[in-house]
Amino acid sequence: MLEALQTPGSTDWFVNDRFGLFIHWGLYSLGARHEWLKSREKMDDETYQKYFKYFDPDLYDPKLWASAASGAGMKYFVVTTKHHEGFCLWDSDLTDYKSTNTPCGKDLLTPMVDAFRAEDMRVGFYHSLIDWHHPQYVIDNCNHPQRDLIPNKSGEVDGMIAQAGGDTAAKSSAADGDPNQGRDQAKYAAYLHGQVRELLTRYDPVDVLWFDFSFIRDELLRNDFSQGKGREAWNSEVLYPMIRELAPHIVLNDRLDLPSGGGWDVKTPEQAQPRSWVHVDHEGAKVPVVWEACQTFSGSWGYHRDENTWRSTRQLLTTLIDPVSKGGNLLLNVGPTGRGEFDSRALDRLAGMGEWMKRHSRSIYGCTQAPAEFACPQDCRLTYNPDTKRLYLHILAWPYKHLHLDGKVWSDRVEYAQLLNDASEVQLGMDHWHAKQIQGEGDILTLTLPQTEPLGVEIPVVELMLK
Ligand code: GLC
Repeated sequence: MLEALQTPGSTDWFVNDRFGLFIHWGLYSLGARHEWLKSREKMDDETYQKYFKYFDPDLYDPKLWASAASGAGMKYFVVTTKHHEGFCLWDSDLTDYKSTNTPCGKDLLTPMVDAFRAEDMRVGFYHSLIDWHHPQYVIDNCNHPQRDLIPNKSGEVDGMIAQAGGDTAAKSSAADGDPNQGRDQAKYAAYLHGQVRELLTRYDPVDVLWFDFSFIRDELLRNDFSQGKGREAWNSEVLYPMIRELAPHIVLNDRLDLPSGGGWDVKTPEQAQPRSWVHVDHEGAKVPVVWEACQTFSGSWGYHRDENTWRSTRQLLTTLIDPVSKGGNLLLNVGPTGRGEFDSRALDRLAGMGEWMKRHSRSIYGCTQAPAEFACPQDCRLTYNPDTKRLYLHILAWPYKHLHLDGKVWSDRVEYAQLLNDASEVQLGMDHWHAKQIQGEGDILTLTLPQTEPLGVEIPVVELMLK
């Protein structure tokens, strides 16, 4: 059994619970065309101000959100306290750019935290390191809405520029002076630290802290914040010990640009499913780490009215099972509307996932990658609960009556098998007449399945009890 690298945060609950809800909610919900719209459309503060002026989520009821998430089988949530636009969902003492000053007039975070805690869910905060509104934040030529004003000193191109939809040619300096004049990134970093302190003390205990994100394009230009931003821009080396002091057990993600083996607890691959358990280089070896995939229902994190690439419930369940079979978690995102509701498509998928989880959560909670000797058959995903010593075979494509498990270990170790949805026995072995017709028998254990897959079960699971 693989064991993940030990880090300071308490990740035991995290790797047990496996499934969380990500919430991206802010002023961009009104634009309803991606949470990066300010950057993509290169809007200035004045143009973006209309969203602040009209932000009024009158239908917001966090109890409904929490119950939809808990009903889906989610055990924790991570909400954008502030996204890159800089707008804050709580009543921060350090800014006026917050929900209490919009027509909604309310602190939106406190009732959310209360509602999710009432559903027994753990509390996580996504907090943007990037801030496209703060007056001290140095304008960069990577993803900032005003990036066209900043010359490119390295000439390199990376994904962040592409994501922002920026042009890649070197830009000329603003004719009328330096747009960064009067901006002091250190003052912004102090603001960032102050807000983190506020969040960790006011909402103590916070279980997860999820920063987003660092972007260094050229190592030689680390200290030029107009060219990229990493630990120097956030003053991460000071921020990190402060977090550990205020919340020693918090589960912290990996985007502060601090080195491996210190400075984070969880790796967070985004919008891509890793092919195997996520590893890092540590003391000269590749070691597995605690990790969490984050994914959306469709192609945007913030509410996107016209985005139609929604995944089906079945696809989303695969998106959950797959990381667990590789020792990881899933943080699945919803972008509530500007009126404060979950999109009906999100509610539909959450309900569908909950229907499956009601009977199959045993193959998710407390589970991890199966020991290597149990080779996973084609079109399946295997998870394993080390406490109960049960294996879970998730069948993604229903086979023709027989499912063959290769290797002697299967017949040596499996004592009993059943379908998880109804605890109906799955017989071990196959009859002689069938056996003599299949090729390459070798050491196999054959499961004799019903001819057709169980009705109404999105992804059938066989539970295998080991001796
Ligand atoms: C990104 C995007 C962002 C989203 C996040 C979630 O880095 O900037 O909008 O919040 O990923 O992982």
